[in-house]
Amino acid sequence: MASMGTPAVVMDNGTGLTKLGFAGNDSPSFVFPTAISTLSASSSKSSGNNAKSTGSFLSSKRGLEDLDFFIGNEALAAANGPNYNLSYPIRHGQIENWDHMERFWESSIFKYLRCEPEDHYFLLTEPPLNPPENRESVAEIMFESFNCAGLYIAVQAVLALAASWTSSKVSDRSLTGTVIDSGDGVTHVIPVAEGYVIGGAIKNIPLAGRDITLFIQSFLRDRGELDTSLQTAEKIKQQFCYVCPDIVKEFNKFDQYPQEKFAQYMVEYADKNRSKTVVDVGYERFLAPEIFFNPEICSSDFLTPLPTVVDQVIQASPIDVRKKLYKNIVLSGGSTMFKDFDRRLQRDLKTLVKERIELSERLSGGVKSSGVDVQVISHSRQRNAVWFGGSLLAQTSEFKSYSYTKQQYDEEGPNLVRNFSLFK
Ligand SMILES: Nc1ncnc2c1ncn2[C@@H]1O[C@H](COP(=O)(O)OP(=O)(O)OP(=O)(O)O)[C@@H](O)[C@H]1O
Ligand SMILES: [Mg+2]
Repeated sequence: MASMGTPAVVMDNGTGLTKLGFAGNDSPSFVFPTAISTLSASSSKSSGNNAKSTGSFLSSKRGLEDLDFFIGNEALAAANGPNYNLSYPIRHGQIENWDHMERFWESSIFKYLRCEPEDHYFLLTEPPLNPPENRESVAEIMFESFNCAGLYIAVQAVLALAASWTSSKVSDRSLTGTVIDSGDGVTHVIPVAEGYVIGGAIKNIPLAGRDITLFIQSFLRDRGELDTSLQTAEKIKQQFCYVCPDIVKEFNKFDQYPQEKFAQYMVEYADKNRSKTVVDVGYERFLAPEIFFNPEICSSDFLTPLPTVVDQVIQASPIDVRKKLYKNIVLSGGSTMFKDFDRRLQRDLKTLVKERIELSERLSGGVKSSGVDVQVISHSRQRNAVWFGGSLLAQTSEFKSYSYTKQQYDEEGPNLVRNFSLFK
């Protein structure tokens, strides 16, 4: 029987990164790529290994001794050799390979967190508009393969709203706001009213961290830099990029103050004998994150700037919540971490809203609008906001009453998890 005093496990499995830890903590204990390397068919045959590729991998075993796969950074390293195939079980936020996901969770629980699932409740996260069948599949694995004591599945955007309560700009602990969650694979703009996602108004932007990294890589290649790997492009992105107020003025600044603006990145290799490589860093510092505000500089398919998408999302939401949605625009995810991302978004969105108000005042013959307060909230837990929001909620005394237990699952079946109560 589960000990009721043990902290809940909080797992946020993203397209790019998994955030893993215990409720009540400020940050996840582990953050690593949501990647798995499995033995390739030929090598598992030749080594006599009988890894199953389908069905419930764990039904017959619980030990770790004979794990024939790696996850996270170990998976990336194993995939450099000849015997392992690398794959990413989550695409665009949704689980696509359930067998790989089950193995990934197994290793997360037993090898990384080193806990007994029978002793813990679990909080898992899901993207907006996740099909209910996916929740059932998650519950099947969590309860049947791992025997976890209890389970709650939360929508990522709602957790991101809860995480923003730590900001001094947020006066009331409300679950109404617009969440901009930009991770590796996709950027979601999600309006939430009283904890409920306004499904019909959500918009996804097919530009996120991976696109920015690829864009930087194209600059490095064009200049013939000595290291143009994705890892280097990603490091440059995280260390040097920022959002500027005006591209033309920013180019001029590079001309005027080249010493200050152009930079150099030193690539260090795991092999200490290999000499370091120096890579120049130039205009990509501000042009790469600019794809959120002027997407045409890198994409020919998606052309709507992020501030316009946010405005469209709020305008498509019910009129009685719109003011609150403009006032509480909450950032979440690694790709919102660029310096001054919040300022630029707030400024551009304010301009759009002001133009519309002026137009409607003119059309209505001068009737004054009461105005709209546009506020973008940036805060210290933004990087892993979804995980942190989960950690906050799962440490409350009510958390267990909102979760389903193993016993309830056994009695009522997977259907049970189609609906979870909202935190009040
Ligand atoms: N300081 C930073 N500045 C800019 N980008 C960053 C920073 N830190 C991380 N990132 C980028 O954020 C992305 C990962 O973000 P996050 O962990 O929120 O995504 P995810 O949850 O894996 O993906 P998704 O939410 O799309 O399923 C990566 O592209 C990473 O390079
Ligand atoms: Mg995410």
